[in-house]
Amino acid sequence: MTVKDKNQNDIMSQELLNSFEIDYIFENKPINRFKNKPTIENINSRLNDLKEKIENIDNCELKKSAKQIVFSDGSFESSIMIVGEGPGQKEDELGKPFVGDAGQLLNKMLEAINIKRENVYITNVVNYRPPNNRKPEPSEINRYSEFLRQHISIIDPKILILMGSTAMEALFGSKIKISKERGIWKEIIINNKTYLVMITFHPAYLLRQADQKKYSWADLKEIRKKIDALNLKI
Ligand code: URA
Repeated sequence: MTVKDKNQNDIMSQELLNSFEIDYIFENKPINRFKNKPTIENINSRLNDLKEKIENIDNCELKKSAKQIVFSDGSFESSIMIVGEGPGQKEDELGKPFVGDAGQLLNKMLEAINIKRENVYITNVVNYRPPNNRKPEPSEINRYSEFLRQHISIIDPKILILMGSTAMEALFGSKIKISKERGIWKEIIINNKTYLVMITFHPAYLLRQADQKKYSWADLKEIRKKIDALNLKI
């Protein structure tokens, strides 16, 4: 058998590699530079892992006093993700977010812009009911915001709607005021991905302050406009 001599180019490139003093490993397998679209099974399993992680949280006053975890509701394939504050009494009983009075109003708000509740994905900043429906403490918001970020990353929505100051604070900090920030499109980077965000009033606040509904309606119309502009199927 005759062994084919290395040609001049082979020798030159070998010399070049040696001069870098790097051990190169050549693989026949092509490099996949594009991430595969996550499958439904993959999203489901990541959501289950996240839920389990939250259920295993230690030393959490909210978890101690709540009946059960309230993780999410709706379609995890949705391009719209809504984030509220935390479960109330009814949510704690049923294990689903936004099923009490605020939830009824949320359903109507979505209907007003031609969106069915079951076609969006809904969660909260804290996943356990705060005692007596108190606002979560800054330390609690902080602690749960890491889970929320992971949750957003998994759902990967095209539009993120933050309802109320707790949801706003969880992602943008406490130095800003919702009255100034609502109704303006913002961007947030989570896990190297940029998300489009709309901050708006919480339905529970609107139940107490009906005169603020006009602002909420303006925000909803903005959201509808964006859905249409981006041609989102919802
Ligand atoms: N308020 C919230 O913020 N979330 C709920 O799930 C219910 C009421």
